[in-house]
Amino acid sequence: MRILTGIQPSGKLHWGNYFGAMKSMFDLQDRGENFMFIANYHAMTTVSDGKVLREATRDVALDYLACGLDTEKTVIYRQSDVPEVQELAWYLSCLTPMGLLERCHSYKDKMAHGFEATHGLFAYPVLMAADILIMNADLVPVGKDQKQHLEVTRDLAQKFNNCFGEIFKLPDAYIPESVATILGTDGQKMSKSYHNTIELFDPSVKKKVMGIVTDSTPMEEPKEPEGNSIYELYKLFATPEEVAAMAHNFRAGGYGYGTAKKELLAAYHRLFDPFKERREELSRDKDALEDILKAGAAKARAAAAPIVDKVREAVGL
Ligand code: ADP
Ligand code: TRP
Repeated sequence: MRILTGIQPSGKLHWGNYFGAMKSMFDLQDRGENFMFIANYHAMTTVSDGKVLREATRDVALDYLACGLDTEKTVIYRQSDVPEVQELAWYLSCLTPMGLLERCHSYKDKMAHGFEATHGLFAYPVLMAADILIMNADLVPVGKDQKQHLEVTRDLAQKFNNCFGEIFKLPDAYIPESVATILGTDGQKMSKSYHNTIELFDPSVKKKVMGIVTDSTPMEEPKEPEGNSIYELYKLFATPEEVAAMAHNFRAGGYGYGTAKKELLAAYHRLFDPFKERREELSRDKDALEDILKAGAAKARAAAAPIVDKVREAVGL
């Protein structure tokens, strides 16, 4: 089984990215052949500064490696190191109905946030389909917001197969219910676009956790934990016993949001402080990181090559 995911280097990664995509990928590392890439072509839809893109790409690579990517089990690569994805994106584009892309939420969402309506943003899901299909991936760990892109990928794979013969597998999204949508500091979905994120190695993590929006139920009163952002976030970091204890405390009353926030902060540090240390170590040796990415690129390109050959042959090139 092939498992694949990617994240755009379009800003600092946050808790939503970690639990929604990265951790699922790491949890599956023993289950198949794994590919995890940095979607730097995709990031160009919103980043138009070369230096910024290069640095952000490196940052995401460091985040992957620091937080659990095992290079013995998972191939890590920059999307742009497999330029054949652009080629495949073109072949898929020629079969992509405009209406399919017009229905995509992510595009409409970007428009609503004031981005310019570029062809790159519009065609984004086609490039994503190419990333997935070029590696013949079976399973794609992502957050719920990417589900529609996986549906587009399946549609395009099916259409291609109908037209040119059975070449592509139809991939499935992997979206565990417990991490489908991670909440941000304002109780909405955590997202860069909503300015409600807590970054993986956020220098102001304490301020952000203490600033999580809550209602004004007084300290003494019992509170329902389910749906409360602090409790929902705590579930991600804490053991089942710790989670049960927090639920009990909330329901019993006499337990304030401030105390719950401190517990969340402590649980975050327990998980992320070791990652932070590893990240600092990794970031000291730029050449070593480049070597890892180059080795990953060679493996990724080799995995893509047989599929690209078949596709070229099938389309008549
Ligand atoms: P953002 O919304 O901050 O721009 P991205 O779109 O770059 O995040 O997301 C990268 C990956 O992280 C995707 O797989 C996405 O589904 C996942 N992800 C992002 N935010 C969340 C969230 N709040 N909950 C669950 N998964 C998320
Ligand atoms: N669209 C994804 C996001 O916004 C990133 C991405 C690009 C991706 N290509 C992919 C995710 C292929 C999974 C598989 O986060």
